[in-house]
Amino acid sequence: MPDIFSTTGTPYADGKILKHTAGGVGVITFNNPDKRNAMSLEMWEGFGEALTALRDDDTVRVVILRGAGGKAFVSGADISQFERVRHNAAASEEYAKRSAAQRALLADYPKPTIACIQGFCLGGGMQVAMLADIRLASHGSQFGIPAAKLGIAYGYDGLRHLVSLVGPAWARLLMYTGMRIDSAEALRIGLVERLFPEGELWGETMTIAETIAQNAPLAIKAAKITIAQVLKDESRRDMEAIKAIGNACMDSEDFREGRQAFMEKRKPQFRGR
Ligand code: COA
Repeated sequence: MPDIFSTTGTPYADGKILKHTAGGVGVITFNNPDKRNAMSLEMWEGFGEALTALRDDDTVRVVILRGAGGKAFVSGADISQFERVRHNAAASEEYAKRSAAQRALLADYPKPTIACIQGFCLGGGMQVAMLADIRLASHGSQFGIPAAKLGIAYGYDGLRHLVSLVGPAWARLLMYTGMRIDSAEALRIGLVERLFPEGELWGETMTIAETIAQNAPLAIKAAKITIAQVLKDESRRDMEAIKAIGNACMDSEDFREGRQAFMEKRKPQFRGR
């Protein structure tokens, strides 16, 4: 195991969610391996708490999401809870509200996020992965949204992201059949950005995260904000926000540092201001 996991980390949801930090990288681990990291409501809420803590930690510049146990990223919502908390429309609305509030934190996250996927990534796990900025996966991972096999409607936000990643036709094929696809197919249709052998996934993910952590935070924020606006309908686009972050970059100490470091042929030290 890499060093970061030799420390205990901060537990949430009775340890079913773990938070680590090291060298500017924050890591959230879905840690319910006996159930292939299926998400209970308590885990959704713990996930939200961990996201908030890493968002507010100024030393953290990028956040990785991963599953424990090597078999799954997240196998979806915990179906064993459904009889109690999601058995009809009214109960489902309350359930959706509580879990959606945590996903909204990820959707509006101010720092870059990476989903590191090894094994099954299903249902609500796909929702989490699709909300991350970047998806890296190991060969042998499997992806799917089996909502039609359970009788669940998969919601607007999840499908919006699915359609924007893979297009409407693949979204329909996946949703109508509830089929699982392998990592090669996921890569081909744009559901994941890069694939690695299992033994290399974590190291490669950390390398990318560390690269992001060492780059200029305001420039990354500008890219994140601008890309999010590109994805909105033109009528809802906040061009002022793009201009404001652009100006913040050009007036920043980091831009001065970036220029000087280039001229002096040294590595820049960025501070996010
Ligand atoms: N909710 C609750 N429990 C789950 C779960 C989920 N989403 N996914 C897996 N589990 C549990 C299984 O019930 C099983 O529990 P048990 O050991 O008490 O029998 C355990 O995790 C291991 O699962 P198992 O099916 O034996 O492992 P597998 O490696 O053969 O298959 C999956 C893994 C994820 C493919 C399979 O468990 C599955 O299809 N899960 C449901 C996925 C789903 O429909 N998600 C969408 C929910 S909206």
